[in-house]
Formats: sequence, C-alpha cells, structure tokens
Amino acid sequence: MSAFDSEDIPTNTTANPHFNEIVESVRSRRGFLKTGLGLGAVSFFGAGLVACGGGGDDDTPEAKLGFTAVAANTLDTITVPAGYKHAVFCKWGDPLFANSPAWKPDATNTAADQALQFGDNHDGMHFFPLGNDSSTEGLLVMNHEYINPEFFFTPGVQSGATPWSLESVRKGQHAHGVSVAHVRLVNGNWQVVIPSAYNRRIHLNTPMALTGPARSHALMRTSADPAGEGSLGTVNNCGNGYTMWGTYLTCEENFNGYFGTTSGADTRNANMRRYGVSATTSGYRWEEFDARFDYAKEPNEANRMGWIVEIDPFDAASVPKKRTALGRIKHENAAQTLAADKRVVVYMGDDQANDYVYKFVSDGKYDAANAAGNRNLLESGTLYVAKFGAGAAVGDMMGTGTWTALVPATPTTDGSTLGAKFGDLGGILVNTRLAGDAVGATKMDRPEWVTVHPETGEAYLTLTNNSGRTAVDDANPRPSNIYGQIIRWREAGKDAAALTFEWDLFVLAGNPAHTAGGLQAGSANVNAGNLFNSPDGLALDADGRLWIQTDGNFSNVGNYANMGNNQMLVADPVTKEIRRFLVGPSGCEITGITWTPDQKFVFVNVQHPGEYGSHPRKPTVEPDVDPLAFSQWPDAAGGRPRPATVVIWKEDGGKVGT
Ligand code: FEO
Ligand code: CA
Ligand code: CA
Repeated sequence: MSAFDSEDIPTNTTANPHFNEIVESVRSRRGFLKTGLGLGAVSFFGAGLVACGGGGDDDTPEAKLGFTAVAANTLDTITVPAGYKHAVFCKWGDPLFANSPAWKPDATNTAADQALQFGDNHDGMHFFPLGNDSSTEGLLVMNHEYINPEFFFTPGVQSGATPWSLESVRKGQHAHGVSVAHVRLVNGNWQVVIPSAYNRRIHLNTPMALTGPARSHALMRTSADPAGEGSLGTVNNCGNGYTMWGTYLTCEENFNGYFGTTSGADTRNANMRRYGVSATTSGYRWEEFDARFDYAKEPNEANRMGWIVEIDPFDAASVPKKRTALGRIKHENAAQTLAADKRVVVYMGDDQANDYVYKFVSDGKYDAANAAGNRNLLESGTLYVAKFGAGAAVGDMMGTGTWTALVPATPTTDGSTLGAKFGDLGGILVNTRLAGDAVGATKMDRPEWVTVHPETGEAYLTLTNNSGRTAVDDANPRPSNIYGQIIRWREAGKDAAALTFEWDLFVLAGNPAHTAGGLQAGSANVNAGNLFNSPDGLALDADGRLWIQTDGNFSNVGNYANMGNNQMLVADPVTKEIRRFLVGPSGCEITGITWTPDQKFVFVNVQHPGEYGSHPRKPTVEPDVDPLAFSQWPDAAGGRPRPATVVIWKEDGGKVGT
C-alpha cells in the first residue's frame, strides 16, 4: 500500500507551496506519477516498449520482474532472491598479474605491490565480451574510487603513530583508478585469467593525453607539463560509461578532496572554491609529499582532474584520453546514446547538492562501418546544461525543460556572455560549474547516474538526496530531502540532440515512518516492502528493467527504519513497480553494474564494506573502535573488509531479474 494512500497525510506544510495540490492529486488517486503515465504511456513509452513486451496497458502489464523480493536486513552478507546464487571475486588486493604479490590481511602490502593488484573501493564497471558476443569470456573493466584509510593502512597511520611518507601517498595513489581484468567462466566459476595481455592497472601515475578544447589551454599547464598536453593519472573514479565503439569511460568525481596546501594560507581562486578544494590541508595528505597536489605550488594541477577519461580496454599499451569537451565537473557516470542524425550524445550528472545535469553532443557522427573514425567522436562537440521547468502545471512533479549550450556566445543571466566571463571554449570547460551558474541552470538534488532506455530513448537519472534543500521546484520538490528521487526525460521528437524535453519523476523515495509524513513518505510506488533511500547507481538492462543501487543511510533507525543495509532494486518502467533484489553487507554501498550479453550473469560491486558512515556505532576518533568490528565481508571471519565484485546468476539458467 502506498504511503500516499494513508488518510493521515498532513494538509499543510510551510516549505512546499504546492504541497496541498500534490496531496490532493494523490488522495484522489490521480497521483503525479499516474498522471504522468496516463496519456504519458503513449507519449513516453510509445510502441517500442510495447513491442518488446513491456505491456501497453497500465492495468494489465506483462510481468517484467519475475523474482521474489528480498526483505531488508542489516546482516554482514549478500542477500539475493530465492533461486539465485552469487559468488565473490576481484577483491581489493587480489592479483592481476603473474608477478602480483599476495594480498596481506594485515595491510602491509607496499605501494609497489598495490600497483600490481586490484585497486580499492570498486565502483562503475563494464563487461566487454571477448569474441562474438561471448557471455563466458570478456574484459571486466572497473573503477576504484577511493580508499578507507582505517582498512587500507596499518593501524596508526591515521592517528600519527605510524609515520606518513611518500610510500603511504603512493600506495593510496596506486589503489585508485581502473582495473582491466580478463575474466572467463570455467566450470561454472568466474575467474580472472592470469597471465593475460589484457590485464592492466591504471592509477594516479599513469600517463594520459589531454584532448579537446582545453588541451594546451593556459589553465592546463603545469611545471611538469608546460604544454598542457598530457596529465598524470586519474582520480576518484566513480561511475562509468562505455561507447558503442568499444571503449570504456571512467568518470572523475570528487577530485577536489585530493588537493590542499602546506603553505598555511588560503590562496584558492574562485574556481578552486567553487569545486571545493580544501583551504589548507587535504584529508588524503598527498600534498605533504607530492607537490602537484599542493595547489599553492601547482595551481593548475586540479584543473587537470574532474574529466571523463576514455580508455581502450583491448589495448593494454594504449594511452588513456581525457575528453575535455565533456566538461569538468564532479562526474558521476556517462550514458551514451545517438541523436537522430547519428551524432553521439552523452548524459552526465554533477554529484553535488544543487549542481547540474549536462549533455554532450558530438560534432561528428557515429558510423558503425568506420571504427577508426569513431575513435575521436568525444574530442569535439557542444556541452549543454539542463533547466527543468514546471511546465503547464506547477507542483505536479512533471514539466518541460531546455538545454543551454555552454559556448562563448551564450548570454549569461547578468547580461554578459560566457565568452566574456571565461574566454574561449577551453576556459569555459575548465570552469564548467561556474558557466552553469552563469546561465541559471536548475539546481538539482545531487545528480548521480544516468541511463538511457534501450527502446524509448528516455533518460533516467538518480537524484540521490539533498538534506540541505530549502527552496523547492517541480523537479526537486522536497525540502530537507534525505531520501532522493529518480527523474526521467524524453527529448523533443525523440531526438537526443533536441534542445527541449519533457520530464517527470519516476519515484520519490521515502518512508511512511518519517516524522513529517507527506512527501517524505515517498511516491505511490514506495511501500513497506521496498523501502530505500539515496538511489545512486542506475542502469537499464537490454530488456528495459531499471536496476537501482543505493548509497545511503544504513542506520535502519528513525526516518531510515526498515530500509536496512544499502541495496539493489529493480523497477518496471511501465508499471513503476519496484522490487528489492539484493541487500549488501554492513556499511557497504552497492554500485556499478554490468551484464554478460546473454543476461544470465550480472556483475555488481560492493564498495566500502565496513565503512561506519551512518552507523550508530560510528567511532569519532581512531582507534576508539576496532575498524574490523563492523564488517569482515567477504573473507573468513576475522578478516579485514574488502571491496569486491559480486557475480549473480539464476539457478535455472535464465536471465537475471526474470
Ligand atoms: Fe561516487 Fe556520486 O558517487
Ligand atoms: Ca509541472
Ligand atoms: Ca555513486
């Protein structure tokens, strides 16, 4: 039963001026989502989804979700539905090469060891089949976003009892980035193939090429690279993308956290402040031993982070390319599709409270017959930022929107132009966030992953939460939004390059137990059996099932009661039903998802198991709680928690989710 069906919905709120209209529409069972999908079932889903089995009639849809939902729990394990199995591999520290040293449970592996092992805190991931659509052998390419010092280093490094050194810095740097792992199904078990010429580690000290409009720009030059043409490494690799020409996209998110200064003075410029570079020291302390992370010494080094990097996973000697045409933000992921004229379109979110949604449209056109010609489609194009308008009615959580080009001629809200403010296109792209500010883009509730429906071309985007929101709008309708929502849009004329779109909210996560009730209870497709908060990872499979991964508050108390650990759910875009598929171990986030082409195996990543986060036992000062006390997943009891990849399959050999 929907929380909104309850009769004790309050009828007033001081924060949302449209609250009464929304509640009335829900009470009369014309809820905004139903309204959006009434006539919208035609305009949003059209014939494509009907043809692929989604069902054209809201009242009698063909079942897309065929599994029994799992209950929320707070166990230190993986829970999957009845009839499903899972296995764990590609753990932090596992070998990738014949000469990889073994992972040491006491965290005494060296920086050199770490460069030959799987990195830490797995995130976005993609399976590239080897051979003809193979579903038994491929390249599993995954991001390693960050490290948890309490597990990553030997005890005492955080407290200062163990000396901090260049070795400590390098070990951390080598645990970030990307792993390319050749994997194969052998006797029912997925294994990493070692040795394999494909296996590769990319990290903070891997040479990369700068490409696109910001290449060679004055803002990209450093003492180590006076031409501004190459950069060293990639950092905070969060979500991912992949291209239809077989490359992997790794997305640099919270790069700001790695920069600080030992100078003792706050000399940050406006750009550094807007992106959140620390005024003095950084949490990672790299600036103490690696001068390029000291912004006072290398003020442009941070400008070389915050990009999307394109990697050819099939050539371990290839140089990764930073694609500056796609903008510099705290990139979450990158979802590719094609415009009507075959230009490449990439949707992207900037994960910060009150930041923006973007899309890139390439200058060149995709040509399936011209593999070499596709290789540099991400090198030049136009970057747009989104404005989500209320549309015909205010307060119904649907509306229309526009895309504004971030190019020199574009007027700014103060009567100037982007060119006058930031100079050439390269300057605008280095200052992407400030350009979005200048044109009045819509401030969103932390844009995370985007995914594009394989049949309809609709884009879905998670807005994970924004507890600090005060002013609301149709797309971000809740003040103090602790739960998040999923928004979707359809471009005018079904053309991904269009400059206008219509949108609605697919789900407003919530909890009927929230003390404020009302919108905090969630939309009609949220119920006692599928409670979750903070949707983050998001992907539509080839059949159009929407897989939702969470990175939220797992305290399971108060306003988060009955949500349990972070989890993965599956939704039917037509019926809007949402069903819980997986619950992760203690303290983790579930993130990253990819399938074998036959969809018989789904790979997901378990990030930061054991991270205290929102847990009630969260320690305040190291080492007042044994860092291993909270999770020991996935090794035998007594082990240090390790991020890892989980592969899940259906015992009857069917597609996962059916
Ligand atoms: Fe790396 Fe926004 O999550
Ligand atoms: Ca509206
Ligand atoms: Ca994320």
